[in-house]
Amino acid sequence: MIDLNNLILDNKTKNQTGSFNKSGNDKKVYIETYGCQMNYSDTEIVLSVLSKSGYNETTDINNADAILLNTCSIRENAEKKIFYRLDALKYFKRRNPNLVVGILGCMAERLRKDLIENKKIVDIIVGPDEYRKVPELIDKVFETGEKGIAVKLSKVETYDDIVPVRREGVSAWITIMRGCDKFCTYCVVPFTRGRERSRKLSSIVDEAKRLYDEGVKDIWLLGQNVNSYRYDNYDFSDLLKTVAIAVPEMRVRYTTSHPYDLNMKLLETMAEYDNICKYIHLPIQSGSDRILKLMNREYSVEDYMKVMLKAREMMPDVGLSTDIISGFPTETEEDHQMTLNVIKEVMYDYAYMFTYSRRPNTKAFRMEDDIPNETKTRRLDEIIELQREMSYESHKKLIGKKIKVLLETVSKKSENNLMGRTDCNKSVIIPAISKNSYVDNSGDLISGKEYNIGDYVNVKINKCNSATLFGETEE
Ligand code: SAH
Ligand code: SF4
Ligand code: F3S
Repeated sequence: MIDLNNLILDNKTKNQTGSFNKSGNDKKVYIETYGCQMNYSDTEIVLSVLSKSGYNETTDINNADAILLNTCSIRENAEKKIFYRLDALKYFKRRNPNLVVGILGCMAERLRKDLIENKKIVDIIVGPDEYRKVPELIDKVFETGEKGIAVKLSKVETYDDIVPVRREGVSAWITIMRGCDKFCTYCVVPFTRGRERSRKLSSIVDEAKRLYDEGVKDIWLLGQNVNSYRYDNYDFSDLLKTVAIAVPEMRVRYTTSHPYDLNMKLLETMAEYDNICKYIHLPIQSGSDRILKLMNREYSVEDYMKVMLKAREMMPDVGLSTDIISGFPTETEEDHQMTLNVIKEVMYDYAYMFTYSRRPNTKAFRMEDDIPNETKTRRLDEIIELQREMSYESHKKLIGKKIKVLLETVSKKSENNLMGRTDCNKSVIIPAISKNSYVDNSGDLISGKEYNIGDYVNVKINKCNSATLFGETEE
């Protein structure tokens, strides 16, 4: 899973209030999105469906006629967050009794009508395959007060005819497949998102071209397991190659791949095309074969290491990241050490690290959640600490090097700086104006160069910490 804080566009670019109303409806919808990029991408689909029925998006929650939460179920804490949020929303409902509150996404699918029964504030529940019904369900609450639920999973829905309402920005997501058939024993996704299905290749390529024409510089092809993409006789490598050729000026990335079916063909395709980013997010989850088996991950640590070595051999500068779960049932100190060893051996650039959360319906739910919370957290802390050292080491190697960076946003910490990303997904901060610029007292640039979001710049790295690189252009 990618760091959403880095992917979500900043507040300035995030929303486009009232930009798509097509008919006379003056109702305003406010959407909050939680969870993975698939959910963020789905929110863009929901906004598109709503716009066709004349709804406006608002970024002002005080002003909303409907508040929708697009939710995540991956860990217990993700769901807790939504329950707290629903409590907070009671205030808005008291102020405006006609307000419609909706739960979309994975929690809608998992909890279904329990949510309506237990949380009086909720009016509509819509699962990930039923987003076409969102407007009619909201309409019905407005018209009759009747609550609504639509949570059927589909074997075919890919929303490929829907043009998402995109947030402005340099990066965009294209969902290429939905669902997951892997059934890792700890994971709710196969239950909340249903069976795997792939979107038509030509519709993905068309969307990539359209995004390019709109000025997007960086696209992420999204799926829970992109390596399972299959459309007619095309596999994921064929898709990636076709997209890379169709939009040669665009940076093309993908996430997430599963180690079981990441093959040589994909690595070769990545190595062959300059505009395919040299970045692989490949979740290992655990460094112990025994735990991997219990997780139903279908690969051994040795298989995994072979892929990593091959990737580095074919693309020496490749960026590598992973996901790790600490404290899966029965995990011993020895298993935990094996995970630490893998982190050291691979030297990931980045990792997303979690403590195990026992999820209802999953196979692992039947196993005793026998690792005490303190142990899970202590192990997680050790993993995080080691990974921080690894990230720092991998960043240090880049000091003094010149790297091409695509500028994506204004830096969160200072308006005078811009944040960009390298081909292998590292964040880089640079001053928004070139080194020898001269700015007068009123802030006008008299000489030198001012950089803009969307520019490619060559940056010399001069500093780093474990999360970020810092540099300057040499103009
Ligand atoms: N489809 C992606 C990951 C989706 S979920 C993949 O398989 O790579 C993102 C991450 O959340 C997973 O990789 C896993 O590390 C973590 N995760 C999933 N279920 C979890 C659970 N029950 N407890 C803790 N972490 C979990
Ligand atoms: Fe969950 Fe495994 Fe599917 Fe990823 S591959 S979404 S971890 S079941
Ligand atoms: Fe994504 Fe969370 Fe659902 S990670 S697929 S939003 S359970």
